Amino acid sequence: MRSFASRWWVIVAIAAVFLALMFPAAVFAQPPSPLSPATSSARDILQLHNIIMGIAVVIFVIVEGLLIYSIIRFRRRDEAEVPRQIYGSVPVEIAWTVAPAIVVVILMILTFRTMRTAAQPPSAAQNPLNVQVVGHQWWWEFRYPDQGIVTANELHVPVGRPTSFQIESADVVHSFWVPQLAGKVDAMPGRRTWISFTVDEPGTYQGQCAEFCGAQHANMRFLVIAQPESAFQVWAEQQTAGPVEVTGDLAQRGREAFFQSACVGCHAIQGTNAQGKTGPDLTHVGSRRTIAAGLLENTPENMARWIENPQEIKPGNQMPNLDLSQAQIDALVAYLQSLK
Ligand code: CUA
Repeated sequence: MRSFASRWWVIVAIAAVFLALMFPAAVFAQPPSPLSPATSSARDILQLHNIIMGIAVVIFVIVEGLLIYSIIRFRRRDEAEVPRQIYGSVPVEIAWTVAPAIVVVILMILTFRTMRTAAQPPSAAQNPLNVQVVGHQWWWEFRYPDQGIVTANELHVPVGRPTSFQIESADVVHSFWVPQLAGKVDAMPGRRTWISFTVDEPGTYQGQCAEFCGAQHANMRFLVIAQPESAFQVWAEQQTAGPVEVTGDLAQRGREAFFQSACVGCHAIQGTNAQGKTGPDLTHVGSRRTIAAGLLENTPENMARWIENPQEIKPGNQMPNLDLSQAQIDALVAYLQSLK
């Protein structure tokens, strides 16, 4: 009976399947992907990735090539005798110790170089925008201390001007990551980390918590909306203005329902008694594109579903089911949607 190794085509087939699966994943990756960078630091990281990938491909081809060659060339033939058995070779041992060591040192130097260039702090002359990022289970709080803006799960940044992020956590370790804009930065309780980047092009970039932080880690997303400076200023002014006056009976009833229920214990609405800190600030919740940390599009229908039973949509999150009536939910949705 022939041995498994003599069926060299099995090995070739496994290698072919491996490559067939890897390459489309790399080539056809859709955003949010680090392979479509939109900042100079993300481009530095991609360049490092390409160099490391190139070196890895060369090593892969050499090693697999030798392996496949050996399997075919030296496969057992029934008539062949057992080859001469050798053990140990000083030149070979030295070669395969030194060669990988050289490769590792090269990768280390390239990595240090990229870490330095990708993490250049902006100068005061570049007039960076300061943003404080606080990770929560499972949503993101964004504070703009200079403008007095507090928002959640949706960052607005100007194009062509650096944004400088101070990152921390209110509970467990999270990781702030916008694949197209920068590397990952841990958000840790009791310690501030930092990152900065300048977005080149207007656009909406998807962010994601990149450190396992509990049941809803995967649903801890956010959006980075990069706008031309003038549009960013319009947004900032709208966010710093107090909440709009409530008009209409339904929204008015929703406002009453909000302040009479448990909502106020956890959420803040600037200019009102609602100053809760457990959940997202709702001052301008109606202007956001998503709710529940990127899980749902911000439509009245989705907001009603969310208020009705948050635990069904995002099990384990801190918002309880308040057992509200349909009339209360409709009124609350009208009020919250009016908070533009
Ligand atoms: Cu927060 Cu994962």
